[in-house]
Amino acid sequence: MKAVVLVGGFGTRLRPVTYAVPKQLIPVAGQPMLYHVLDLLPDDVEEVVLATGYKADLIDAYVRAHPRRWPIRTVAEAEPLGTGGGLKHVAAGLSDPFFLLNSDVLASADLTEMRAVHVARGGVGTMALFEVDDPQPYGVAALGPQDRIIGFVEKPDPKDAPSRWINAGLSIWQREVLDAIPGGRAVSFEREAMPGLLAKGVYGFRLARYWEDAGTPERILRAQQLLFDDHRGGPGGVPAGARGTGPVATMGPVSVGGATFGKYVTLGTDVTVAAGAEVENSIVMDGSVVERDARVTGSVLGPRARVRAGHRVSGQVLAEGAEA
Ligand code: GDD
Ligand code: MG
Repeated sequence: MKAVVLVGGFGTRLRPVTYAVPKQLIPVAGQPMLYHVLDLLPDDVEEVVLATGYKADLIDAYVRAHPRRWPIRTVAEAEPLGTGGGLKHVAAGLSDPFFLLNSDVLASADLTEMRAVHVARGGVGTMALFEVDDPQPYGVAALGPQDRIIGFVEKPDPKDAPSRWINAGLSIWQREVLDAIPGGRAVSFEREAMPGLLAKGVYGFRLARYWEDAGTPERILRAQQLLFDDHRGGPGGVPAGARGTGPVATMGPVSVGGATFGKYVTLGTDVTVAAGAEVENSIVMDGSVVERDARVTGSVLGPRARVRAGHRVSGQVLAEGAEA
């Protein structure tokens, strides 16, 4: 089976970091969020096709430099084609059925089991669903017997949400669904294709444990916490020479002697956290510097950002090269 991962979109809700780094390459618990999504795929997947657009060259370079157990190919769109158009654009040579994954969902999900459920139900599609308190920002499913999806509304008004079970962004489809997507223009899979597919049999696959769409700074940090707590952020602890609790995940050499770390921190390559500085619940990207006695909490620091000595940064997103 092959897998398509949707890797377009501008990451607007994560600006200004996403002016420099596409959302999918932002590190979360020690690796780019895209790789946490890829980790969910069964070992026997034949090929992963990344449907890219914004900053496609950076994503292509990263996956070439960081190969995984299945071949990964990128196919870039000249213009954003949306979730349906992006899928249609890479349709040539897809398997029947195929996986379709969003690239920003950080979750616990057994996709091998989902594939077995898909085959057993015999519909055209199976969509992982997760129960949330507020379904408004998502696609929301109405469920019938055997968890057949009998209604689907993308980003409904709160009063129109048919349930609290939302599209988790992890699904399996038969090739015939590609016929429901017009070619050559932007198409929303959720808004334009889904409603018509329901009559052919689309089933829900309920996820338990945890799920997060890492599309905003708050949610990316919440997702990082979930991944660390699920031991998907490496061995834990703090880097040599540092103090505190961690867990801290490092992505390359760092200089952190005399620094203190609280819980849930990712440090990119060549990050410096000076003596007396403290970092907690944050993502500090490649080449950033946190000077002595500074304190960083609940923040995402873009590449080569600098927090000056003694300064406090809390709940902020710093652009590439920014100073605070
Ligand atoms: N190739 C391509 N082209 N990919 C795109 C494009 C595009 O024009 N636009 C968005 N994507 C990718 C994003 O990178 C992301 O992985 C996925 O498609 C979904 O886009 P988002 O912008 O993150 O959508 P959302 O979070 O508002 O809603 C979607 O995800 C929710 C779950 O996280 C929908 O699928 C909802 O139904 C769902 O509940
Ligand atoms: Mg999203």
